[in-house]
Amino acid sequence: MNQPGRLTGRLVALGITGSIAAFKAVDLLRLFRAEGADVVVLMTPSATRFVAPLTLAALSRRPVDADVLDLLPDGRIGHVITADAADVVVVAPATAHWLGAMAHGLAADVVTATCLATSAPVVVGPAMDGEMYAHPATQANVRILREEFGYRIVEPETGGLASGQVGVGRLAALERIVDAAIDAIGVRPIRKPDPADRPPRLPDGDDAARDADDLVGRHVVVTAGGTAEPIDPVRYIGNRSTGAMGIAVCEAARDRGARVTLIVGTASVALPQGMAIVRVETATQMRDALLEQLASGFDALIMSAAVADFRPAAPSVLKLPRTPAGLSLELVANPDILAEIGRRVRGIGEDGAPVPPALTPAPVLVGFAAETGSIVRAAAKLATKRVDFVVANDVAETGSGFGTPTNRVTILAADGTEDALPILPKREVAERILDRVGAALAGRDASE
Ligand code: C5P
Repeated sequence: MNQPGRLTGRLVALGITGSIAAFKAVDLLRLFRAEGADVVVLMTPSATRFVAPLTLAALSRRPVDADVLDLLPDGRIGHVITADAADVVVVAPATAHWLGAMAHGLAADVVTATCLATSAPVVVGPAMDGEMYAHPATQANVRILREEFGYRIVEPETGGLASGQVGVGRLAALERIVDAAIDAIGVRPIRKPDPADRPPRLPDGDDAARDADDLVGRHVVVTAGGTAEPIDPVRYIGNRSTGAMGIAVCEAARDRGARVTLIVGTASVALPQGMAIVRVETATQMRDALLEQLASGFDALIMSAAVADFRPAAPSVLKLPRTPAGLSLELVANPDILAEIGRRVRGIGEDGAPVPPALTPAPVLVGFAAETGSIVRAAAKLATKRVDFVVANDVAETGSGFGTPTNRVTILAADGTEDALPILPKREVAERILDRVGAALAGRDASE
C-alpha cells in the first residue's frame, strides 16, 4: 500500500480563500501529501478565520504564508519564491471575491500575488452560494480565468450549501481537484527540485516540523476513547478514558503523512481534523467498524481505546425506575476486539487452529495495556492478542494514564525488547510509538 504517489517530488502551492469550505482544505492538503507532494500553504486573511494556520503549518511542515507584505526570515519574498518553485498552484476553495480580484489582477493577498507571479499551471476550485456563482459578474470572472489566463476551473457541484439553499456552488469533490492538479502538471519536469529553492520548512525543534514523512502512503487506523455500554436508554457503563492518547497518535500519524481513520467512542477532548472519523458507542459497534476497516485494508492499527470488558446482558428498552431495593445487573463479556483482529490477521481460528489465509502483508498491530502497579501482565498480551507491540502504562502512577497530559509507558515488542520511556507529553509518546510502527512497516516492506 506504500506506492509512490502521483505527485512525488512536486511542490504544490495550495491557496485557501475565505469560504466556509476552507475547512475542506485540510483534507485536500492531506490528499496532496498522500500523493507524495511537498505542499506550501498560502492563505488570504479571511481564510485564516475559517481554519487555523497552525493546523496547515503542522500538516505541510512549512510556515503558512498569509501576509503579502511579510518577508521570509532570510529576506526573500515568500510569494515570489513560491511562484518560482511551485509545480502547480491550486486555489481551493476560491471565493467570488477572490475570482474577481484575480480576474482583475488585484494582488492584495498572497494567493493572487502568487498566481500573478507564477508561470506554473493554476487550478481553481470555486465554492460559494448558488446565486453568487450564477451571477454574471462571477461567471465573467470565471470566464476570464479560464479563457484568458488558461486556468483550469474545477466546477463546483450541485448540492446543499452552507446557506441552507440547494444549488451549484459546493466545492468540487477533493479527488477531482487533485486529479486536475496532476493533469495540469502533465509531463513537465519538476521546476525546483532543490529544497533550497523552495519556501523554507519549519525550523527543526518546532513541534510541527520534527516529524518525518515516514508514514506517507500508509493507512493507519486508530481507536480512541472509551465505550458506553447501555443499561437503559439513558444510562450506560463507561470508563475514564478521555481519548487524549489515541487522538495524539492520530494527529502524529497524520502529520507524518499517513491517511488516518479514527474510530472513537466516548471522548472528552476535541476531535482532530484532517482524517476520517467513525463514531461508535459500544464495543460491538467498535468491533464492527474495525472489521470493516480490516476488510478494506490498513497498514497499522493502534488500539488505544479503553474497551469495556463487560456489557449489560439485556439492556432495558425503557428507562429503569428507581427502586429502594436497588438494582442488580447481569453483565456478559465483550469480545476482545484486538485479539480477534490479531487472529484474523495471522489466519488463526478462535480455537487456535490455523484458518488460512493470513493477511499479507500483515498490518502492524499495537495494543495498549493499562495496568495498576505492574507491567508484567502486559508482556503476556503480546502473545495472547498476537500483536507486534504492547504499550504498557501504569494508570495508578501520578502523571500517567487517564486525564493527564503526560504518560509514562514501556513499549514491549514481539521480539522481546522493552523500551521504558520517561514521563513524556502524550504527543511525544505518540511519536515514539509511531517511530516503532514506521520502522516495522519499513522492515516488512524490505522483507517482501
Ligand atoms: O486485555 P486488556 O483489556 O488489558 O487489553 C488492552 C488492549 O486490548 C487495548 O489495546 C484495548 O484497546 C484492547 N481491547 C480490545 N477489546 C476488549 C478489551 C480490550 O480490543 N474487549
